[in-house]
Parts: sequence; C-alpha cells; structure tokens
Amino acid sequence: MFRVLPAAPFPLIAAPRPYTLSARTPRPIKETSSQMIVTIDGPAGSGKSSLAKRVAKALRWMYLDTGATYRAVAYQAQRQGLDIHQPEELDRLCRTLDLDFQWADNGDLRVIVDGADVSDAIRTEQISSFASRVATLPQVRNAMVDKQRQLAAQFDNVVTEGRDQGTVVFPHAQLKIFLDASVEERAKRRQLQLEQSGQPADYDQILQAIRQRDNQDSTRATAPLVAAEDAVKLDTTNLTLDQVETKVLELIQAKRSSRP
Ligand code: DC
Repeated sequence: MFRVLPAAPFPLIAAPRPYTLSARTPRPIKETSSQMIVTIDGPAGSGKSSLAKRVAKALRWMYLDTGATYRAVAYQAQRQGLDIHQPEELDRLCRTLDLDFQWADNGDLRVIVDGADVSDAIRTEQISSFASRVATLPQVRNAMVDKQRQLAAQFDNVVTEGRDQGTVVFPHAQLKIFLDASVEERAKRRQLQLEQSGQPADYDQILQAIRQRDNQDSTRATAPLVAAEDAVKLDTTNLTLDQVETKVLELIQAKRSSRP
C-alpha cells in the first residue's frame, strides 16, 4: 500500500487516496503526456533526499524516495533471517512486501512495513549497508523498478531520487540532476544527521562506511550509480541546501517554459 495521510501539510499529490506499491494488488497505470518527471540521483550524503523533499514541497509535486524501498526490503529480509545469497527468497519477499508510504503532519515521509512504522528503523547504519548489498540483486531491482514506475505513473508531476532514476527507471525524464559532494563532506553531513537523531556517530567509521557503499553502489553489475549522459551535474560540497534548491527550481522553470 502507498498512502498519503489526508492531514499532510502540503498537497504533494493530486488526490488523497490510497496508492499501492505492492505487486500483489497492481493498479492501472495512468500515462499523461503532460507528466513531468525530475530525477535526482547521486551517492549517499549528496543531499538528494533533502533536495527532493524541498523541491516537491515548493512545487506541490509527488516525492518518491526510492532508497526507502530498498531499505524496506533489507529491513524485512533481516527480520526474516535472509541474506543476499538467497535471491529466490528475496524475490518472493519483494513480491509480497506490504509497503506503505505516508506523509506525517510535519511533512516527513513515514515508511510502513506490514503495518508497522519502520521509518527510523530503516535509517540505521546496519540497514544502510545491507540495503546497498540487497540492491545489487537483479531480482530485487526489477521488482522495485516496476513498483517505482507504477507509482510515478499515477501522478502528474514527480520528483524522484535514488541512484538509477535518470539512467534506468525514468530514462525519458524531462530533467535529470546528478548531485555529488566530496566523500569527506558527505561523511560530515551523515555524522550531523546521526547526532541529531541521537544515534552514535563516529566520523572515521562513517567515512569508511560511505566509501564502501559508494563502491558497492557504483560497481554493481545491474544499474550502477552513474550520471545519465543528459544529467545536469551539481557538486554540492560548497553549496548550501538553499542554493542547490534555488538552482534546481530554476532548471525546472526553464524546462517548463521551453515545453510546447
Ligand atoms: O538513498 P538511500 O541511501 O536511502 O539508499 C539506500 C540504498 O539503496 C543505497 O545504498 C543503494 C540502494 N538504492 C539503489 O540501489 N537504487 C536506488 N534508486 C535507491 C537506492
């Protein structure tokens, strides 16, 4: 299930009705020629999520956090004692995964698996690393890519963030952004984020974990992290989030005005 709470602080989507991410109950896909998709890809800590949320909020668009789908699979796989050497079981898990996205009153995206709110549980360093490994499996990627496309097709305008949104999932997106930042800066941001949420945050360990994830995400055989040829590349190392948001909103505005 993919739901948006009626009490959302800003209408990110056109209609507050339930949306489904589960392959068990597929919904008809609505294709509209006027649909605009903006993809934001980049490595961990490049600022994709914060940027995508801000852009969606500013434009009142649908926001799709595709990393959360891989994190939910990893979370559930861990609970069921599965590892990446069990691709068939993971495939089955993906096909039956009961996944809800809900917008909380403060605008945060809440991730619900099997009726339980796992939004915080899927953000640990352990799940980050496991999600990155689980996401190397073609079975898992195929299932998640299908769900991401089904979901996006139901909305007029979508800003989606991940690793392969501009290259694989939405190759025809009207605007593709590739965000990057130095690995040290990304580790600092992650450290701050963990500290703010009261979790242990050792800079050297974080740096090492990010390097490992970068390596895993960019060297996997299926849909590796790479900038689409037609992506606008933005290095955010020395930019504030406000500056990046302003730049991306300008790019979107320029695309919109140049559309027939
Ligand atoms: O964006 P994130 O850190 O929440 O993503 C968690 C992991 O999921 C990341 O290490 C790689 C994987 N992922 C992916 O392979 N493709 C995506 N589109 C999004 C995330």
